[in-house]
Amino acid sequence: MNSLAGKRIVLGVSGGIAAYKAVEVCRRLMDAGTHVIPVLTNGATRFVGRATFDALASEPVRMSLFDEDDPIPHTTLGQTADCVLVAPATARVIGAYAAGISSDLLTATLIATRAPVVICPAMHTEMWEHPAVADNIATLVKRGVSIVGPESGRLAGGDEGAGRLSSPADIVAEVDRVLDFSGRRLDMGGLSVVVTAGGTREPIDPVRYIGNRSSGKQGYAFAEEAAARGAEVTLVSTVDRPGPLGPTVAPGVTVVRVNTAEEMAVATAEAAKEVDVVIMAAAVADFRPVDPAGVKIKKSDGVPAIQLEPTPDILAGLGASKPEGQILVGFAAETCDVADNAAAKLSGKCADYIVANDVAAENVGFACDTNEVTVLASDGRVRPVGLRSKRQVARAVLDLVMEDRADAREENQ
Ligand code: PMT
Repeated sequence: MNSLAGKRIVLGVSGGIAAYKAVEVCRRLMDAGTHVIPVLTNGATRFVGRATFDALASEPVRMSLFDEDDPIPHTTLGQTADCVLVAPATARVIGAYAAGISSDLLTATLIATRAPVVICPAMHTEMWEHPAVADNIATLVKRGVSIVGPESGRLAGGDEGAGRLSSPADIVAEVDRVLDFSGRRLDMGGLSVVVTAGGTREPIDPVRYIGNRSSGKQGYAFAEEAAARGAEVTLVSTVDRPGPLGPTVAPGVTVVRVNTAEEMAVATAEAAKEVDVVIMAAAVADFRPVDPAGVKIKKSDGVPAIQLEPTPDILAGLGASKPEGQILVGFAAETCDVADNAAAKLSGKCADYIVANDVAAENVGFACDTNEVTVLASDGRVRPVGLRSKRQVARAVLDLVMEDRADAREENQ
């Protein structure tokens, strides 16, 4: 939590049932040593009282654009904030912010700030999935606003579905991450990066394929982490961005969609020709049907004998023809003998690093939101990265890559 201490955070609270959870967000931010200035909308006070935030936060609650002590409170708040956080953010606040409309102190502060903004949507599923809200979220993502959640779960009125506010812990972690970024220089500025994501699909016939459980979450996390650090990223992926944002991707990331290992091999080889860093997080099929049927195989024809052949090994191909200075990061998804198998892939595929994934462990590897890895470097160093979000795993791996790159450049001077 070192990025939070001493920072000024405007905590915007808008009018939804999840407003009560903003109290916990406020408390956690205070515990982390931040200076919290609560800005409530009129709607928020229908769900939670001003007195609660007055008692907990660093300053009394602000609600009005017409403050007796400060004639222009929104610009004062916007200019002095290190981060503006809105939790919960209703469809109205999201829409106003996306459209540049300032109808109250909170929306005016959002438009009057150059500080990073974190928006935590919370609303009913029908509203969250409405195309207008989806478009507004896409607009904010393109502008570099950080969106946390929403999660799926129980909603007001006993309904279930997408739209529940993310947990206070996740919200505070994102503010911490955003502040950490705004405090550091963009250490990947000027670099080009290729990332692969998702599991390939090898057709058996026009409706069936051989696939795997990769969701693309780890690959997208790498792409977005590298882009947030200033890199130009090409993401070769079999899937849309997993999670509520759907196909919307962060600025600086260009997505090339593929399906099969062959398509991924072609797209990756093309994209990786002159880039600085390649990260192979995709789960590429090792085998594919030799001769996929042209029409759907009929059950009545009996169990088909499907003959398989190896797919191209994309990572090994890139390793064999790696341009001078390019950094190649492969993965190893293993269920046993993880260290030995990963070490064999490191040398066998001529990678600079292998990120070893024990995918048999709980909350690790395929489809979940967290990961735990060990990074093996080609010079024999081993760096464990304990269980954390996939974004934090990406961050730790890129930290190592960038540290080593800086050391190598210093040695060569
Ligand atoms: O997508 P998620 O749900 O977030 O899950 C993340 C993940 C588990 C998929 C990811 O963390 C991971 O481990 N990715 C590598 C999966 C994999 O295919 O591992 P592998 O040990 O089979 O392959 C080793 C390396 O060679 C990988 O970098 C792979 O991309 C590459 N490979 C494999 C086969 C092939 N034909 N061509 C390749 O380039």
